[in-house]
Amino acid sequence: MTFPSINPTTTKSWEHLAQHYKSVHNIKMKDLFAQDKNRADKFTIKWEDFYVDFSKNRITEETLNYLLQLAEEVKLKEAIECQFSGDIINQTEGRAVLHTALRAPESAKCMVDGVNVMPEVYAVKSKIHAFTNKVVNGELKGFTGKGFTDIVNIGIGGSDLGPAMVVEALQFYKNHLTTHFVSNVDGDHVNEVIKKLNPETTLFVIVSKTFTTQETLSNANTIKEWFLKSGNEDAIAKHFVAVSTNIDSVKSFGIDENNIFPMWDWVGGRFSLWSAVGLSISLAVGYNNFDSLLQGAHKMDTHFKNEDFKNNIPVILALISVWYNNFFNAESEAVIPYSQYLNQFATYLQQGIMESNGKSVDRNGNPVDYQTGTLIWGEPGTNSQHAFFQLIHQGTKLIPADFIGFVKSLHGNQDHQDKLISNFLAQTEALLNGKTKEEVVAEGATEKLVPFKVFAGNKPTNTIFINKLTPESLGKLIAMYEHKIFVQGVIWNIFSYDQFGVELGKQLASKILKEVYTAGIDNHDSSTSNLLEYYKKLT
Ligand code: F6P
Repeated sequence: MTFPSINPTTTKSWEHLAQHYKSVHNIKMKDLFAQDKNRADKFTIKWEDFYVDFSKNRITEETLNYLLQLAEEVKLKEAIECQFSGDIINQTEGRAVLHTALRAPESAKCMVDGVNVMPEVYAVKSKIHAFTNKVVNGELKGFTGKGFTDIVNIGIGGSDLGPAMVVEALQFYKNHLTTHFVSNVDGDHVNEVIKKLNPETTLFVIVSKTFTTQETLSNANTIKEWFLKSGNEDAIAKHFVAVSTNIDSVKSFGIDENNIFPMWDWVGGRFSLWSAVGLSISLAVGYNNFDSLLQGAHKMDTHFKNEDFKNNIPVILALISVWYNNFFNAESEAVIPYSQYLNQFATYLQQGIMESNGKSVDRNGNPVDYQTGTLIWGEPGTNSQHAFFQLIHQGTKLIPADFIGFVKSLHGNQDHQDKLISNFLAQTEALLNGKTKEEVVAEGATEKLVPFKVFAGNKPTNTIFINKLTPESLGKLIAMYEHKIFVQGVIWNIFSYDQFGVELGKQLASKILKEVYTAGIDNHDSSTSNLLEYYKKLT
């Protein structure tokens, strides 16, 4: 089964939306709230421990109807079916896209090329479970007989960002192990991490789907050399494990076959934290918490797959985002979690969203003549309020924002929590209402200062209010954004699961590296040649 390739701009609903935009783009959300006392209830989805209020958007019921029609017209239902059934929807790489299988129950059937992958998925899960327990309990020991105290995840992109974000997000649930992440080929990164480590008590997890990535292999080799100054080749088997699809290359690196955690080409790097790529998560918070993360994601999968589009959280968020991206020409979206634990959440989403939907060719191979992927950025509140919020409030750009908050704090400091949540609520209210000239005058501002103190307001936000940050709710939240990415890729008629755009830079870097090592410089533009020459002269 496959779903059709439909240029969204040729649909009836797109035409309606374009017309509708002309009549509503100046509409004031403030007026919409005044006109309809039930607006917030109408535009809120309550699901499990999630309260998603999307009423502070420049939408009316008519807007939403057209957007929902768009989802029908681009055959979103069929597309979802194809994804969950293991169809080859990543057509440019000839692969199924089945990260959802990693969090499905053992009894589920997920077919890839006619084979149910669930037995393999559960075999790897058992391996992660057993290994985690042995490391956490101290049963597995290093080469001098000591238990492990530190874990180092060596990977980049999807083999780093997901685990790093989740380990930080779930640090409240952490055990005694200290987890470190080495990703950048910048040697200062690996050296800063190494200097904190004792080789006798450190376990290294090399994560690379392909096991060809320059950064990861360089870091792994540097760490291996450093390790061999204390341990011998035999000790490597006790201290190095790998997660990869490329078993032969892992073995040639010197890793024991029993220490390899397999993954599959039907799991994209940026969607892989649910697989053995999440081994460092499991080690940091224990297997049961890792499993709860997966259970949460599975609950969101079920919601996404079965719920009517009008009550479907990822679908609604994706449609609203398309409305701003394609009709208001908003270029970026901010994600503001009111939780310091989610410090790396926006960075993580940048890969998920921008590597997936940063495409300009449609599924027929033709250039698109409409906007696709949005720029994603953000930082936790309240810190971000004191950094870039000025621009969101009073700048010239329209920046729709997702506000993510948790009703309960984990450490239970109610005074801080009340202040945090007051800020969380106040910001979306301020962005909605702004401040009028009359209000500024009434506050006693001098005439000269009035224009500077006026806030236009009417800035759109979604509020995603979750009961508590737990492994399960985090799993739901991440899966929510994964499905939003998928919906938008379907609407924009692009392939969301390849990433050819990162290849050119990699190829040129290898070429330049050869020139760094040898005399002379090849043919480059004069800027690159000069810079390379300057570097070679000074090193
Ligand atoms: O940046 C490109 C990319 O291929 C990502 O998609 C991927 O997550 C990352 O590199 C790391 O790849 P690997 O896991 O194969 O080392």
